[in-house]
Amino acid sequence: MEKRTNFRSKLGAILAASGSAVGLGNVWRFSTEVGANGGAAFILIYVLCVLLLGLPVMVGEFIIGRHSHANTVDAYRKLAPRTGWIVQGFLGVFTGWFILSYYSVVAGWTLGYLGSSVAGRVTHIEDSAAFFSTFTSSPWWAIGCMVTVLLITHLIIVRGVQNGIERFSKLMMPMLLIIIIGLGIASLTMPGAKTGLQFLFKPDFSKITSSTVLSAMGQAFFSLSLGMGALCTYASYFSDDTRLTRAAGSVVTIDTLVAILSGFIIFPAVFSISTVAPDAGPGLVFITLPEVFKAAFADVPWLGYLFAVLFYLLLLLAALTSTISLHETATAFLHEQGIPRHRAAWIVTGVSILFGTLCALSFGLLKDLKPFFGMTFFDFFDYFSAKVLLPLGGLLISLFVGWKLDRQLVKDEITNHGRYKTPLCGLLLFLLKWFAPIAISLIFLNELGIFK
Ligand code: TRP
Repeated sequence: MEKRTNFRSKLGAILAASGSAVGLGNVWRFSTEVGANGGAAFILIYVLCVLLLGLPVMVGEFIIGRHSHANTVDAYRKLAPRTGWIVQGFLGVFTGWFILSYYSVVAGWTLGYLGSSVAGRVTHIEDSAAFFSTFTSSPWWAIGCMVTVLLITHLIIVRGVQNGIERFSKLMMPMLLIIIIGLGIASLTMPGAKTGLQFLFKPDFSKITSSTVLSAMGQAFFSLSLGMGALCTYASYFSDDTRLTRAAGSVVTIDTLVAILSGFIIFPAVFSISTVAPDAGPGLVFITLPEVFKAAFADVPWLGYLFAVLFYLLLLLAALTSTISLHETATAFLHEQGIPRHRAAWIVTGVSILFGTLCALSFGLLKDLKPFFGMTFFDFFDYFSAKVLLPLGGLLISLFVGWKLDRQLVKDEITNHGRYKTPLCGLLLFLLKWFAPIAISLIFLNELGIFK
């Protein structure tokens, strides 16, 4: 087999992993979940999930990926030959595919809003809720944009790891951060912004239920790209001197920063306009932001225009670095089973377009079709992947690294064969071996109503 490539530099590797993590999850899904779950208290539980579950599971995925230097299925094949663990690899490929399908729909909306903002329409929307529902319920627009996103992803994937993924991530990440900070400041100047800040920072613990905790955990895994082998696949391209705990620390910090900052954009604005409620659902960000561009920049409309174009452009790019990682996981797996890379990529793209169409139509033609537990295709894909498949993957990964892998191997990976002292190594191993499996299981059981 051809020699596997690595990322060119350590920074490139970290940026690519952060590129996978930072995406619509931080802006679109984070705001939707914070809004639906009552604000500050949810954020607090979210941050705890990120630190106590996300960070250790991320190091776990890095260990599996870097040690095996293989796609996520073959990683289990190599590390635990002839055991059932390979199922976790397959589950991951399946989960990624699942997420890619509905994620592309939202990325498609971003593309559509980018088009509208370039045409100068986003800054002149009269009723942003009506605009959103007209746009998302139009089958041609919704499907067309979703397919375009998948085709762009496809193109980058076939160009390969170094030229595609790494170079792309390097430029985009810092720019996105700057724009988000700028917009946050703009949003804070809107009347009523203070109520939004209170919503973000003053916890009301009476709002917490078992499903709040499950939502926070699901969001943590989703936002950090954990539980399905995307970061494991990326870590298989890490070189031997990348420090795994540091890399994980950086990715977690960047990802959480972007999420919280995007809360600063959305919630002050939500409370300053009367037409949206924080629990508006998946449309929240798309309905709120046009109002920010219009109202916060009423005196300098050209600046509103500029911010709108740049924001949607960068959000689209951030979404693309995430779709790439989802796509790459499945493509790398199919390719390393002997299928030529471009054909593997076509299979992944084709199936995603098929599923994506069902999800794209969930806001229009198929709005009333609720085949799973009273949820539309879109809602089901979202619920099932973020709240069932990813935490389940996280559980299996922590069990695998904590119990199945040889302890010396794990320590060698964490300390780069003793080259670096890693003071928190013991704590990390404890979290992986005991805390994560128990906490994830309890959250699942709690949601099922076992403790009532
Ligand atoms: N984390 C990305 C986001 O926040 C989405 C994503 C990319 C993802 N790869 C993943 C989610 C793997 C779960 C698993 O937008």
